[in-house]
Amino acid sequence: MEFILVTPQARTHVALIQLNRPKELNALNLQLMGELRDALKELDENEEVRAIIITGNERAFAAGADIKQMAGKTAIDMLNMDQFSTWDQIRKTKKPIIAAVSGFALGGGCELAMTCDMIIASETAMFGQPEIKIGVMPGAGGTQRLTKAIGKAKAMEMVLTGKFMTADEAEKQGLINRVVPVELYLEEAFKLAGEIAQMSPVAARLAKESVNRSFETQLDEGLHFERKNFYLCFASEDQTEGMNAFVEKRKPEFKGR
Ligand code: HXC
Repeated sequence: MEFILVTPQARTHVALIQLNRPKELNALNLQLMGELRDALKELDENEEVRAIIITGNERAFAAGADIKQMAGKTAIDMLNMDQFSTWDQIRKTKKPIIAAVSGFALGGGCELAMTCDMIIASETAMFGQPEIKIGVMPGAGGTQRLTKAIGKAKAMEMVLTGKFMTADEAEKQGLINRVVPVELYLEEAFKLAGEIAQMSPVAARLAKESVNRSFETQLDEGLHFERKNFYLCFASEDQTEGMNAFVEKRKPEFKGR
């Protein structure tokens, strides 16, 4: 594993996965996501593990999908790359997953945190779906999960302006479980994971499945719809302009084409 660190038994029955591309603010490239999928599959099959924590570092949980990897892609490249089958497998992990978030959780980073079952945040955490600023839109569940978590008006504002939400606001809006001082966020995640790990793994599995079921019957359809629109963004000049501008460190000029 090059971009993640896995400690299968960081504490009793609790495994820790740390995203580990710190220089790139843990930007989620295809390799990292593949490694994450494989690690989760292994931990799901490991009978000693009863709860999983995914974390980044103090500065960033993850600043989104890797823009540099996507910048030159066409809609059909994106379709053929089929990165969302990886996300689908992560979503199907049977054991409870807690995201321990500090710093940036943006774009795919925010979507990854929302794909987890619970979120513990440090007071420095910032949540956002800033894809609109680079000429695209959320593609890994953002429009669906954020809306379900915080409601239409707030989600719409975040998705259409790209503005970030502080950890305090995210707690108020019900996006996350709680906020703690930065030196305690991982500890707090371990505390929660430890509590869950003392419960029946069978009941925990079935309970997780059932809570998710409350909205997932409609989620498949929503994700399918979102995905088509995400791919379609890659047919626009604005996507090329937005992503190139990011890579070249300049302001984008969007033309609506
Ligand atoms: C690739 C990224 C990146 C990203 C940061 N970096 N985010 N590289 N993809 N998403 C890189 C920068 O290029 C830079 O590398 C290094 O990480 C540090 O970032 P800086 O910008 O210098 O840091 P700072 O000024 O502190 O700004 C932090 C930031 C900013 C506000 C988080 O980096 C930012 O706006 N990042 C992009 C956020 C975003 O748009 N995310 C959504 C992506 S699309 P170099 O080598 O240049 O110094 C997406 C779609 C998901 O997620 C759906 C499909 C899965």
